[in-house]
Amino acid sequence: MLADTLMNRIAGRRARIGIMGLGYVGLPLARAFAEAGFTVSGFDTDPGKRAALLAGRSYLKHIAAATLAPLVEQGRLVPEEGFAGLGACDAVIICVPTPITRTRDPDLSFVEQTAHAIAGALRPGQLVVLESTTYPGTTDEVLRPILEAGGLQAGQDFFLAFSPEREDPGNETYGTRDIPKVVGADDGDSRRLAEALYATIVPRVVPVSNARTAEAVKLTENIFRSVNIALVNELKVIYDALGIDVWEVIEAAKTKPFGFMAFYPGPGLGGHCIPIDPFYLSWKARAHEVEAAFIELAGEVNRAMPGRVVAKLADALNESAGKGLKGARVLVLGLAYKKNVDDTRESPAFALIERLEAKGALVDYHDPHVPVVPPTREHAALAGRRSVALTGEALASYDAVLIATDHAGVDYALVARSARLVVDTRNALAGIAATARVVKA
Ligand SMILES: NC(=O)c1ccc[n+]([C@@H]2O[C@H](COP(=O)([O-])OP(=O)(O)OC[C@H]3O[C@@H](n4cnc5c(N)ncnc54)[C@H](O)[C@@H]3O)[C@@H](O)[C@H]2O)c1
Repeated sequence: MLADTLMNRIAGRRARIGIMGLGYVGLPLARAFAEAGFTVSGFDTDPGKRAALLAGRSYLKHIAAATLAPLVEQGRLVPEEGFAGLGACDAVIICVPTPITRTRDPDLSFVEQTAHAIAGALRPGQLVVLESTTYPGTTDEVLRPILEAGGLQAGQDFFLAFSPEREDPGNETYGTRDIPKVVGADDGDSRRLAEALYATIVPRVVPVSNARTAEAVKLTENIFRSVNIALVNELKVIYDALGIDVWEVIEAAKTKPFGFMAFYPGPGLGGHCIPIDPFYLSWKARAHEVEAAFIELAGEVNRAMPGRVVAKLADALNESAGKGLKGARVLVLGLAYKKNVDDTRESPAFALIERLEAKGALVDYHDPHVPVVPPTREHAALAGRRSVALTGEALASYDAVLIATDHAGVDYALVARSARLVVDTRNALAGIAATARVVKA
């Protein structure tokens, strides 16, 4: 009965959708539901996000303000103050951060806080969906007990599901509406309701038999990436020692139409997902006394990359200018963790800067998408530094230019012409005639 009522409200676009956490995942999701005809309540502990949305601004580079402002104006997307509006929502979707601690253990504090806020307003007939990436068992073992503490039961009085987010910020081919969505729940009603809800905004919903399977799907996808990136990073080091260009190898290998998928080396892993998510599974595996050897090894190989790049830069500087890192002026090109985005979370560029400065180098950076280094917990000392202008004169004044991110909007021909030494971790100068000495790292 409760399930039928909600099903009808979803079918008629009369269900009110609450999104908890309006970040990289939550904001595009809120927009997708609002554009599909629902009224969406947006909740976030950061008051700046509400203020921006109310002022018709977007705080994410790849989400155009022009697509958000009309939704806010028409009352389809409502930036809520506080959490009092949770009770009015028919479905609440949780998109809050799931970081790891310094010792690489899961930090579920945001999910727990959110769960307590929802539990305080929970009423019969509501659907709660967790989207935050996490280890198998979180929906059932962490979220459910908090929500059920007030006496309502999942699958009976309210509905509970997990649906992993596959958003790839900045990807122009695949946005929220192009990517199939996996949904898992421990009972039939919850699964059907979550399926029906997401079917209004994605091309295909893929139901799996329970929440922990859906949680495992997401981790499997990201561990696949982490392990393959580690593999190609290892191959880079081996081929470098053999005098073989790993980039040329990959270009040729990927012409095989089956059985090979191209992954590319880099200065280390970045972003909010790939460097973090795998450790959610290795933590859970440890709790079950199972080894997660591949996951740990991939982490080790990928974490060693910034150190290798700095060593390579030091050697190149020594060979080309007879200089050491101490006192050398280095320009790091690209601060974001991947090309064409402004997201610096977990960016290996920070690790590169810190390592170079620890060795006495004087480091500046240029990034067209990151004019100022945002404050972060891990790299607090770098906050407030500003991107320097990229002119021929400036480039020529550095002992070395280190390409950490290959943004499309950078004039690489100017770099190749003006710099003295370029250490290129992204093959950004491929095919460009250079007067600078170019070292791939
Ligand atoms: N960014 C991605 O590309 C991506 C892709 C797939 C999955 N994920 C996963 O999605 C989840 C969210 O990631 P994100 O990148 O959107 O993070 P984010 O930091 O961009 O956004 C999270 C938002 O949640 C808000 N928040 C924190 N605590 C809150 C609370 N108690 N109540 C309400 N709001 C709260 C924060 O202020 C922030 O605005 C994570 O689990 C992440 O692993 C992210």
